[in-house]
Amino acid sequence: MDLRDLNVLHWRGAHVAGARAPATVTGPDRFLIDTCQRRVAVLGGLEALAAARAEFPADGALESFAGADAYAFLVRFACGLESKLVAETEIFGQIKEAWRDFWDRGSPLARQLSPWVQLLFQDAKAVRAQHLGKLGSASYGSQVRRLLGEQADAGPTLLIGAGQLAQAVAPWLTGSQLWLYNRTAERAHELSRELGKRDAARPVRVIEGGLQAELAAWSGARNVVVCVPSDAARDAARVAAWRERGERAGSVIHLGLGSDGASPWQDLPQLVSLGALFEMLRAQSEVRRRQLERARRACREKALLRSLGANSSHPHSWEDLAAFDSL
Ligand SMILES: NC(=O)c1ccc[n+]([C@@H]2O[C@H](COP(=O)([O-])OP(=O)(O)OC[C@H]3O[C@@H](n4cnc5c(N)ncnc54)[C@H](OP(=O)(O)O)[C@@H]3O)[C@@H](O)[C@H]2O)c1
Repeated sequence: MDLRDLNVLHWRGAHVAGARAPATVTGPDRFLIDTCQRRVAVLGGLEALAAARAEFPADGALESFAGADAYAFLVRFACGLESKLVAETEIFGQIKEAWRDFWDRGSPLARQLSPWVQLLFQDAKAVRAQHLGKLGSASYGSQVRRLLGEQADAGPTLLIGAGQLAQAVAPWLTGSQLWLYNRTAERAHELSRELGKRDAARPVRVIEGGLQAELAAWSGARNVVVCVPSDAARDAARVAAWRERGERAGSVIHLGLGSDGASPWQDLPQLVSLGALFEMLRAQSEVRRRQLERARRACREKALLRSLGANSSHPHSWEDLAAFDSL
């Protein structure tokens, strides 16, 4: 496929108040990547673009990129530069997993996209290594670990959830005992087994027994990290169980809560929500801002170099880029 035929649709669901995720639109003529913040469709040609566009919501959150712009977007996306938690690393794994699934379905588009996707992975790794390596880890797990600080060593941490986010955060919750609770207990056991493979000596306990067992763990834990969506039925009981601890130190980090305002959590002084975590990161240093700017420029440069010749890692010299005013 020629780079000129590459098209990308980008829907920022989480950025639009009250927006609802569109119904899943899978098909052999579009490579879809779904995350909790966005949906991205990679397509070849204008016909496929028009068909896919009709299936996305027609609100202002939909962006469309073509050719080198589409490739530059994909490099930024894979580097975490489109993420709210800027430069986070989990997104790269999510894209790789989505690609594996799409590839396994064996469509003609998968074969056409394959060389571009390989180059995309290569370019994203290069941009990360050159520009984002010294930013420090920006994964959700590393941020949670930083927020817990010394509290992480001071008593058990209860992790609620066993999905994608919980799996990314759990390896960072070292220090004291880790307690795992999940609605589906088997998934918590699975996560525990995974953690055991990395470190057999790690103290991990799966909490079983429904709501009462979960609430007892809320009262007993030093810290709680929530990686499930908020739940009107259970949240009041969770907050009450946490309050039972009295004046004991500890934190609740709720990554399923978009903002601080959600009831009944907002009055909990020890609460850090996902929104608050994003705010902390926004207050990043000038050095970090410049580094990110350079990384974004590097994504654009990669796309321009690929548009000049796709098949080698250095298809043209940097001097060629001078021909482009946009740089
Ligand atoms: N993935 C990310 O990068 C990311 C980043 C920021 C915030 N978040 C937020 O974190 C939360 C979890 O995301 P995820 O990506 O881990 O999703 P996921 O992979 O689909 O996992 C969902 C988790 O939430 C649990 N869950 C879902 N509905 C529940 C309910 N009504 N009651 C109790 N448990 C419930 C699931 O339990 P079962 O195993 O029993 O189904 C599972 O543990 C979401 O609110 C998401 O918006 C995710």
